[in-house]
Amino acid sequence: MCGIFGYVTSKEEAIGPILIAAAERLTYRGYDSVGAAALNGSKIDLRKDVGKVEEVAAKYNFAELRGQRGIVQLRWATFGEPSQVNAQPHLDSDGDLVGAHNGNVVNNVELREQFIAEGLTVRSQNDGETCVHAVERYLNRGYEFIDAIRLAYGDLQGDYAFVIGRAGDDKLYAFKKGSGMVVGLGEGFTCVSSDLPSILPLTRTVIRPQDGEIVTLWADHVEVRSVKDGKKIDRMPETVTESMDAVQKGGYPHFMLKEIHEQSQVARELIHLLDASPEIETVIEKMKNARHLYLIGCGTSYHAAAVGSVYLAQLAGRAAIPVLAPQFIAQYAPTVGYQDVGIFVSQSGETKDVLNALEAAEARGMTCFGLANVVGSTLTKATSFCLPLCCGYEISVPATKTFTNQVITFLYLAYRMANRLTSDLERIPELMEQTLAQTAPQVEALAKEINEWNDLYCLGYGATYPIALEGALKLKEITYAHCEGMLSTEFKHGPLSAVSKGFPILFVAGPNDVPLIISGLNEVKVRGARTIVIAEDDPRLRANADDLIVIPKSDPQIAAPLGVLPLQLLSYHMSVMRGFDPDFPRNLSKTLTVD
Ligand code: M6R
Repeated sequence: MCGIFGYVTSKEEAIGPILIAAAERLTYRGYDSVGAAALNGSKIDLRKDVGKVEEVAAKYNFAELRGQRGIVQLRWATFGEPSQVNAQPHLDSDGDLVGAHNGNVVNNVELREQFIAEGLTVRSQNDGETCVHAVERYLNRGYEFIDAIRLAYGDLQGDYAFVIGRAGDDKLYAFKKGSGMVVGLGEGFTCVSSDLPSILPLTRTVIRPQDGEIVTLWADHVEVRSVKDGKKIDRMPETVTESMDAVQKGGYPHFMLKEIHEQSQVARELIHLLDASPEIETVIEKMKNARHLYLIGCGTSYHAAAVGSVYLAQLAGRAAIPVLAPQFIAQYAPTVGYQDVGIFVSQSGETKDVLNALEAAEARGMTCFGLANVVGSTLTKATSFCLPLCCGYEISVPATKTFTNQVITFLYLAYRMANRLTSDLERIPELMEQTLAQTAPQVEALAKEINEWNDLYCLGYGATYPIALEGALKLKEITYAHCEGMLSTEFKHGPLSAVSKGFPILFVAGPNDVPLIISGLNEVKVRGARTIVIAEDDPRLRANADDLIVIPKSDPQIAAPLGVLPLQLLSYHMSVMRGFDPDFPRNLSKTLTVD
């Protein structure tokens, strides 16, 4: 997830150190390249490259940048590989405008083609450059700056925040759609950023513009106008009182809870991005034509692969083998060849077990694709194409938002292979929000009631079977309790003997699996278990379960990414109630680069 920061002061000054400090405060979002531009009179000094802030800032001497306005950007690659030319900020054709964005412009490819046809100079694949040309195109046609922005806003589809300035001017302009943006008001300066933490050390007086609003920043004041009619809007400044730590956690007590609540937004961005990705066609064709298709990962990423294999079979009639990466080496690697396709799934893109499996597969000539969150990671570089998960930085060790976006990616692929309308998936983010809102109080109360138990089971069937595995993993990982995930029908084949009075057994059920789940839950209920069901509202479940956690009605496949949300919340609350830090569970690290 990229980060932007813009700064306007009343006189020319050493602006470099301010931009470097702001960039450092954006690093927690994750990035692969850095760029800074100083606007000094009629000159724009732009310096940028791939690398860490300290490396790029030192190599290009950001500290010496002087000016009255400046923009700094940290890029997390989605459109275009991490490279100097794709790094932001970007110039317009003549080098008079400079701008940078965060987020995704999903009609990037079409707009770039239009700009090229109109004779504009397009230098990169990056959608930040597209935002600059979108404004340039209307300035060239004689529009005033605000009107050019209003028209550009209509052309740019997606979720983004954008800041732009013109040489020889004394202000910056910023506008946003779907992404966050904050404006800071200080003594003799104003600033704008995608993130509050980059502004807070400078000022605690802020304005939060809404979608469809254009902010003009001068050194001593700002003006907000509506995109719709260009008219001025009154936005009262507010004072931020929270600590920096609280602000970085978005007001939540832990990163895990923040990341749980970010899931709907990152899902929305992912779905838009997948729709706009031309490479996805190649991946789908190869998947369709593969002799054998393997979905390979570890831990949570393996669970997403397992959900994916259910989707591909149920929706597209395509058999896909989900397999833990080391087991792929032991079992399948000797059998694979160029006719086979593997999708390697990993949040970090650095998990050694996954990279070992990739090496074994490539040695046999298998076609290897990736599905990773960290762009620029080894997996993204070592596969022929790697689909991005688009989640931004996931700080908490327990994976949450990356899991749901992995699942949604597989659902998207299955829909495309089945020639179903992917526009139906656009409901998912809203359903996720609804699920969190309607289940949170009940789940927190339940966590209190079952927290004394150190043995639990989590059962599912079909697409919810791997969801049960994932729920059990989350519970183990951060509560340190023993929790086993299992196919619901397997419970009677042994574990049933462990049931005692009050023993908590969680069931996650898709709408088509209710009769089967009811028989499973009665089997354990008559032996004293406490049965907790996560499912759509159903009178049969109300009549049979001890607790019914209701998720919204949706397609059977969508119940899986919805059903995991209460399990994430349950694990979180039980962990906190036990006095543990869910973000950093003992003995674990976020990225496992060892065998
Ligand atoms: O980065 P990866 O997705 O490859 O990591 C694999 C597992 O280590 C990881 O999913 C782990 O299981 C999660 N942190 C659990 O929440």
